[in-house]
Amino acid sequence: LENGLGATPPMGWNSWNHFFCDIDETIIKATADALVSTGLAELGYKYVNIDDCWAEQERDSEGYLVPNKKTFPSGIKALADYIHSKGLKLGIYSDAGFQTCSNKMPGSLGYEQKDADTFASWDIDYLKYDNCNNNYTEPTKRYPPMSQALIKTGRPIFFSLCEWGEMHPSFWGAKLGNSWRTTTDISDTWDSMISRADQNEAYANFAGPGGWNDPDMLEVGNGGMTHKQYVVHFSLWAISKAPLLIGCDVRDLSNNTYKILGNKEVIDVNQDPLGIQAKKVKKDGDLEVWAGPLSKSRTVVLLLNRSVIRSTISAYWADLGVPADTSMEVRDLWKHKTYNKALKNQLKFTMEGRSCRMFILKPVS
Ligand code: GLA
Repeated sequence: LENGLGATPPMGWNSWNHFFCDIDETIIKATADALVSTGLAELGYKYVNIDDCWAEQERDSEGYLVPNKKTFPSGIKALADYIHSKGLKLGIYSDAGFQTCSNKMPGSLGYEQKDADTFASWDIDYLKYDNCNNNYTEPTKRYPPMSQALIKTGRPIFFSLCEWGEMHPSFWGAKLGNSWRTTTDISDTWDSMISRADQNEAYANFAGPGGWNDPDMLEVGNGGMTHKQYVVHFSLWAISKAPLLIGCDVRDLSNNTYKILGNKEVIDVNQDPLGIQAKKVKKDGDLEVWAGPLSKSRTVVLLLNRSVIRSTISAYWADLGVPADTSMEVRDLWKHKTYNKALKNQLKFTMEGRSCRMFILKPVS
């Protein structure tokens, strides 16, 4: 979408994966405080996104959305002012149907301009737009009115399409939005996570600055996977140029979770200015190699052991699209160390089941 946003994938937090409908303005504010105090905001996590369930069930007599009087008594504008005072951005949620997916608040179908104007008047920076209760009209008909309405407000609002990959939005999403979901909802399990990475990978060619494939938000820190599995989750999202939207409770962040979400070297891969989504370049049963180009002639490589047993994976330069015999400096992004000896033709590592190793290769002259 030509709104100047999304030059790199968006980074921030969203309420859904941890809190679902149990949200209020206190949680949102405390989350913003925590993003700042932990240093995550500094690392790029700038969007604080409210998901479903923030509004009253009914519009007011003039047809305006009304923030839930019990949970958001100060209103959304006051919340936006607070979030902005912290140097962060506020995101909100609606739906291209009559009601949102929770059925607890109205959707924006038929009220696109009114709602876009309302969001702009509240100084909203990001809109996630869901797909429930849509009367079986195609998203390709229901999403353009909101896209145009947002542009018409004159306020740059990141537009996140959430139609769960139903109609292959990678083919048409870039005209309408800054990101589009390629999958149904993630849950906090290895199978759910890894299958979404796979589905999303199929559309790699359609991602780029201004418009990103979205395999759904992060589950890192929510407790359903092991530390190593969360490392795989974050690594895959980073190389897939996926939105990095934290989905755990950042008010209560463990050291281990911080080590993942706060890994600057991995974040830098996600935010690389080239904006090219990595692909699966080699597969031998459950042993995979994912790779993609980065700026400055570098290559990012993920060795992924999907099996449950300890295994050795090798990637040859030919697998990675690198000319044979090129000397490469190899940087390990999780061990934070550079291998002194430049490697010439392959990477080869042994790793535990359901874990990965992630590297940047840089040619040395
Ligand atoms: C859908 C979306 C989720 C979340 C919920 C809220 O399922 O895909 O990400 O926004 O709705 O109800």
